[in-house]
Amino acid sequence: MSGAQLFRKIEEIREMLARVRRMGATVGFVPTMGALHDGHGRLIDLARRETDCVVVSVFVNPIQFDRKDDLENYPRNLDADLKFCTERRADLVFAPSVEEMYPEEPKTFVEVRGVSDGLCGAFRPGHFRGVATVVLKLFHIVEPHRAYFGEKDAQQLAVIRRMVRDLNLTVEIVPVATVRESDGLALSSRNQRLSPEERRIAPVLFQALLVAQKYIAAGETDPAAVKAAAQAVLERQPAMRLEYLEVVDPDEMQPVGKISGPVRVAAAAWLGSTRLIDNLLCEPGAVPEVRMIQ
Ligand code: PAJ
Repeated sequence: MSGAQLFRKIEEIREMLARVRRMGATVGFVPTMGALHDGHGRLIDLARRETDCVVVSVFVNPIQFDRKDDLENYPRNLDADLKFCTERRADLVFAPSVEEMYPEEPKTFVEVRGVSDGLCGAFRPGHFRGVATVVLKLFHIVEPHRAYFGEKDAQQLAVIRRMVRDLNLTVEIVPVATVRESDGLALSSRNQRLSPEERRIAPVLFQALLVAQKYIAAGETDPAAVKAAAQAVLERQPAMRLEYLEVVDPDEMQPVGKISGPVRVAAAAWLGSTRLIDNLLCEPGAVPEVRMIQ
């Protein structure tokens, strides 16, 4: 196996990708912050199936972190990530330094209003501004035909989709279903930080979302009732501190007053010093179907 080719410089990967595009090949792009796991792997697999040249970026983007300790403690292991990308048959890995991406203090930012305001946006000031800005920079560097984003970060996906529409970008955004452990916990780079006891408790977040999904499927139209039922599940584990649990419109990511169509139930909670997020798409009258992709 020849291996995924590593690029650290913007100009070098640009040159390579210009050649790739001149040959008529399509480019699939998977932006990540590294510490790659099977959730990222699913995005890479799909890109591999759908496009000719698969590019994975590995960049812990400082401008999207609202807490210094989270940025400092974010897991980093480029050697393992390169190996992972080779195993998943990615072609190119773009892992720039912070200085390469931000040679001077940035003065230009992308702000996607509305979609960014609630849920994680309300608790992590500037987070989605940092995400949208770095993703737009990466899109300009890679110029992909398609880019792959996980539904695990549903608000991020909604923010990127809106940015693409508002700014007339030509990239096609491809959503990918959340990959979970066998007990339902959504895979996340931050799961590494959970203690064994916290790891045992963590799936309760997903269990609460499943209860919400069941209520909605059974015809409950009042978001308050759905939230109360889900919160009751979480209260059984006092170690888990709920940050938010909301029933939102799947595109706008704003709370709904009444459930009359598909909604997303999204939640964030803390276990010790680790923040977990998860969400489920819920539909009135639909038989709940959760894919436990392993
Ligand atoms: P990161 O958290 O590394 O995630 C990279 C991509 O993998 C995102 O699209 C995320 O939704 C997806 N992903 C993570 N866990 C997943 C899971 N369990 N199942 C399916 N997909 C999953 O999200 C970011 O990085 C950054 O904000 C980024 C977009 C790279 C901008 O810096």
